[in-house]
Amino acid sequence: MTRAPKNNFGVNFVGTGSAKPTQVISNDELGLRVETNDSWIKSRTGISQRRVLGKNESLTELSTTAARQALQMADWEPESIDLVILATSTPDDLFGSAPKIQANLSATSAVSFDLTAACSGFLFALVTASQYLLNGSVKRALVIGADQLSRWVDWDDRGSCILFGDGAGALAMEAKPNGLDGFIDFRLKSDGSRGDCLNVPNLDVFQTLVPGKMYQKGGFSPIQMNGQEVYKFAVREVPLVLDELLISNSIKPSQLDWLLLHQANQRILDSVADRFKIPNKKVLSNLANYGNTSAATIPLMLDEAVRDGRVKSGDLIATSGFGAGLSWGAALLRWIGPN
Ligand code: UT7
Repeated sequence: MTRAPKNNFGVNFVGTGSAKPTQVISNDELGLRVETNDSWIKSRTGISQRRVLGKNESLTELSTTAARQALQMADWEPESIDLVILATSTPDDLFGSAPKIQANLSATSAVSFDLTAACSGFLFALVTASQYLLNGSVKRALVIGADQLSRWVDWDDRGSCILFGDGAGALAMEAKPNGLDGFIDFRLKSDGSRGDCLNVPNLDVFQTLVPGKMYQKGGFSPIQMNGQEVYKFAVREVPLVLDELLISNSIKPSQLDWLLLHQANQRILDSVADRFKIPNKKVLSNLANYGNTSAATIPLMLDEAVRDGRVKSGDLIATSGFGAGLSWGAALLRWIGPN
């Protein structure tokens, strides 16, 4: 999927926010649960610690906090928001958590819904929101990426549990008629035929409904992941999709100010950056502190880099999300910032 021809509207990115659980789990602490150690995890993934939602916190609260920060930076009144999209695979409510966030924000005019595309979720939601903005049907959209994968991690599987953490990030997006357009282009891809290397499948449990008739009891298995397959998929497909996007927009890798990849594994980030000869200082990474927070990684990282002044108005960012589905994609963005 690619961007439609440009029309009267452009998209400006005007606010970011993020929120993390308070509970920190270090690599050494994980070593108390499974046979692993700090040096293995750091050298194979770049991760030092992750945050895990505890008893007195919730994903909806985390998302609300991140969203409020983005509103504040954008200087928006909550009633002025038209659309709230929550990218998540782990909502507090299977029927959708976005409306609860909309209510928490008092965004009374906004329509809100959840969107699920695992670790690509934020990118898919950003592209979805941009379509409403570009066709003129909404003016202000808030996109949130948030996940509580700790619910579905198999904490006894050392091959996967070391990777994941919880978090939330948000991005405020505004349609500007005839203005500067921060949403340059995108590509989105899916390949369900390779999807079985990363799943959270339904439990295969059937119970008697009435004599002779059955129903499937709700529930999911923990995360099932073939780490090596996912790794190979990421280091192959992410450079390909980024290359396609850069070439079709006549942008050289050296023109990028930032590479903002889904934070899955530092080795994946390094491999993609090497492929384009992008120096380390232009590769945004906070994996060491949070691990892979799924749909939250990109907005969480962007918020940190905007707030500490690394990302400045006018900066050109290539971002890419990838993960279960399989799903992946990339977008070229220019950070505009609050007016
Ligand atoms: O959003 C997408 C989400 N998923 C991903 O991004 C996953 C991508 N894949 C990866 O990041 C990597 O494949 C992992 C970090 C999951 C694993 O790294 P690896 O370099 O592919 O390790 P491996 O699975 O090939 O295992 C190497 C060795 C094995 O031992 P032997 O057979 O060589 O003796 C494993 O048993 O490391 C062992 N091992 C561990 N040792 C200590 C596997 N997990 C651990 C562990 N601690 N946690």
